[in-house]
Amino acid sequence: MRIPYLPARPFQQTLARLCKALAMAGTLALAAHLPANAATCDIEISGNDAMQFDKAAIEVSKSCKQFTVKLRHAGKLPKTAMGHNWVLSKTADVQAVANDGLAAGVAAQYVKAGDARVIAHTKVVGPGETDSVSFATAKLKDAESYTFFCSFPGHASIMKGTLKLVK
Ligand code: CO
Repeated sequence: MRIPYLPARPFQQTLARLCKALAMAGTLALAAHLPANAATCDIEISGNDAMQFDKAAIEVSKSCKQFTVKLRHAGKLPKTAMGHNWVLSKTADVQAVANDGLAAGVAAQYVKAGDARVIAHTKVVGPGETDSVSFATAKLKDAESYTFFCSFPGHASIMKGTLKLVK
């Protein structure tokens, strides 16, 4: 019995064209869904029992209108002994903001009420707790040096990092 000839090659070509078309459609769908140069406008940072943040530097994209920081306490020591918050100010203001925060006390989350030097801050968190803060990136200037730190008593000198505005 004679087996009819199957045109294998044209079939493969059709399949290849179909795959190409599907891939293109997928790319277009993705491109339509995401804005160009989609930036990450939120980060998570954690503080541990060794008085350390898990990040030393944060970059904030200008393309973000708002930037959100989620702080997590990754340790086990009680909040009263090893509490952490996340405070952002100009680097030049860190010491004064921390000193005033210390005077304001735990009830004020170690941040002086209405402190204009504070760009953003979370509350103090203990083990297993989180807190988030969002701020307008319009508050940041290109050439300025910013520092984030924990204003819990005794922490600011080592529990800190840099934050800068980037493209
Ligand atoms: Co701390």
